[in-house]
Amino acid sequence: MTDPIEANRRTWGLIAEDHYNTYKAQLAQKESLLSEVQKQELGDIRGKSLIHLQCNTGADTVSLARMGATVTGVDLVPENIHYARKLAADFGIDDARFIESNVLEIMNVHHETYDIVYTTEGVLCWLPDLSLWARNVRALMKEDGYLYLLDSHPFFMMWDEEKLPELEVRYPYFLKPADEDGWIGGYASEPKEGVNYSWMYTMGEIITALSAVGLHIEWLHEFDWLYYRLGDNMVKQADGQWLMPEHKDKLPYTFSLKATVR
Ligand SMILES: C[S@@+](CC[C@H](N)C(=O)[O-])C[C@H]1O[C@@H](n2cnc3c(N)ncnc32)[C@H](O)[C@@H]1O
Repeated sequence: MTDPIEANRRTWGLIAEDHYNTYKAQLAQKESLLSEVQKQELGDIRGKSLIHLQCNTGADTVSLARMGATVTGVDLVPENIHYARKLAADFGIDDARFIESNVLEIMNVHHETYDIVYTTEGVLCWLPDLSLWARNVRALMKEDGYLYLLDSHPFFMMWDEEKLPELEVRYPYFLKPADEDGWIGGYASEPKEGVNYSWMYTMGEIITALSAVGLHIEWLHEFDWLYYRLGDNMVKQADGQWLMPEHKDKLPYTFSLKATVR
């Protein structure tokens, strides 16, 4: 098998320019691309140092900088880092820094600590080792810092996306081998063909990985909406989230959590 990280690096790079163009247009219209939920959960970030893991082409990084944080973005993909730097420059964020690194290796190459470690919207599934991820997250946190994570709910990740709102398990909850897919993107660009690999985690594995490195879960929230559109059956809510009407109030699609040092 191809090295999955190398495959992901190459494939994510195929849509970097398209993401940059999409996000540049959006950021010209809107001060911050973060949802209201994220803004409320994060609280006041003015004057905070923040590291944004898996920052893609820097759209949320720029948003966070505009909300008052001093930002550093990290992504695996050189093209993403190139366009993230360009995006920050386009909007005059001169003190934003971007680091090209696998988040599973960032603690070996970057030794600063932060008030906030921020990682959201399609992140954990790209990582083959959650324990190593948690160790890296912990290494980046100040003693009084926190992790903010918002991602797809592990329970939602099970369903066959082509059959929704019908529920048919396509990716078993306890599945361990990597899933190989032939397409990337679609939420901020047209999808492109390219081999990529992703992994499933249970909610128990996520919480246990964080707990094992000495983090305390302040809260864990679960939501019946998704942060991107998955298929034609979803309806956009006033706050920009996507809801499957048949599953409103019934099934979790997204979760978020805040973790601090114990
Ligand atoms: C779905 S995107 C993150 C969503 C982001 N909020 C956005 O606006 O697009 C996933 C990102 O994770 C990055 N990525 C995947 N594997 C990674 C790894 N091992 N280390 C660092 N970044 C990684 C990809 O390059 C991609 O930019």
